[in-house]
Amino acid sequence: MKVLVIGGGGREHALCWKLSQSKKVEKIYCVPGNAGIEEIAQCEDIPYEEDFSSLTEFVRKEKINFTIVGPEVPLVNGIVDFFQKRKLKIFGPSKKASTLEGSKVFAKKFMEGYCIPTAKFDVFSDFDKAARYIQSQESPQVIKVDGLAAGKGSLVTNTKEEAIEAARKVLKEKIFGKAGEKIVIEEKLKGKEISFFVLTDGKTVKPLVSSQDHKSIYEGDKGPNTGGMGAYSPAPLSPFLYKKIMNKIILPTLRGMKREKKPYKGVLYVGLMIRNGEPKVLEFNARFGDPETQVTLPRLYNDLLEVLLSISEGNLDRINLRWRPQAATCVILASKGYPGKYEKGKLIKGLKDLVKFKNIFPFYAGVKKEDGNLFTSGGRVIGITALGKDLKESILQAYRGVKKVHFEGIYYRGDIGKKGLTKKLNRLG
Ligand code: AMP
Ligand code: GLY
Repeated sequence: MKVLVIGGGGREHALCWKLSQSKKVEKIYCVPGNAGIEEIAQCEDIPYEEDFSSLTEFVRKEKINFTIVGPEVPLVNGIVDFFQKRKLKIFGPSKKASTLEGSKVFAKKFMEGYCIPTAKFDVFSDFDKAARYIQSQESPQVIKVDGLAAGKGSLVTNTKEEAIEAARKVLKEKIFGKAGEKIVIEEKLKGKEISFFVLTDGKTVKPLVSSQDHKSIYEGDKGPNTGGMGAYSPAPLSPFLYKKIMNKIILPTLRGMKREKKPYKGVLYVGLMIRNGEPKVLEFNARFGDPETQVTLPRLYNDLLEVLLSISEGNLDRINLRWRPQAATCVILASKGYPGKYEKGKLIKGLKDLVKFKNIFPFYAGVKKEDGNLFTSGGRVIGITALGKDLKESILQAYRGVKKVHFEGIYYRGDIGKKGLTKKLNRLG
């Protein structure tokens, strides 16, 4: 089969890498791809975020059998509906189903309507009303932009003044444009954050192994949020908490989406805050996580093509997901200054040395190739993933890989996975 992957980050590199191990995959294409993906796939620069006509033309011309969508923007803009109307097979939720990620206002009202545990909230489009609400509520609060904002739309504040300032920037200064016409104001939840993923074809639901992202830029979870500075799997999730998440959150969400006539098919990513053994939803995403995918796929035994195809064909019940017992850790190497301003174009050295390590996998994100050399081209540059017999070993191996790579201004957290090792945190619930 010929397969196309949409996207060009570490998540898509991991997807292409896993697909390249499938006996059923004859050729992989990636739009737009990156310097790492081009080693295993034919990369093409075709518009993929809003206008999908060149993409479907390309799919027809190349006789591509199946398309897998990585990022949220094309999903929310209806890439799946566009392909399906043209009888082209694609993996991902429809435009309506993707509203769970595409509109925070929809997601919060939906959760309220279906009694799915989440932070207390209200919705505003008028700044004065928003400011009065902030004053009337307990601090701290989180201001969330309704629409997509490249992962930057949740402003976590500490004081009422900060919250009012954030609301002013979004509603008055319109720093997020149309995406910020409405905002959600919600209580800031305390606890431990985990990522929970399920695959569903609309009938059968299968969870992926647990994982935990590290969102803050600095060690000890300090500083501003990033797209994710590293991840590990499995996260210490008790069977009891796992059941609670399925029964109180995942199943009611999928049932509710059916009732709303937005049936969900694909991978559903639920960001959760766990406190005293109780999970609450922070966010829904209509896609795989980045960097969670980079620690999940190396643990998957199954043929990824078979799994994803079964979802688009409605027979996920025939798949028995099997996981390696090893743990995985991924450390993100970022450019100095990220998630703020950062410089690009720094020469990357040492990546080739990693080839000799069987259990270390570099997944490229902001990397470009020029005259045979690799240069940084983004904030998150490379994710170094390693498998180990347990979490401790996988952390050791990942940092062994990290030490081999260098570019000017390289920054990474030194504590990825550590929270999975601490005894006190050993059970999330
Ligand atoms: P989101 O934009 O909803 O994906 O949120 C991004 C990140 O902001 C989450 O991963 C959390 O770390 C943080 N966050 C969002 N909502 C809350 C909340 N209500 N309480 C605490 N942290 C939050
Ligand atoms: N891990 C964060 C995200 O994928 O949005």
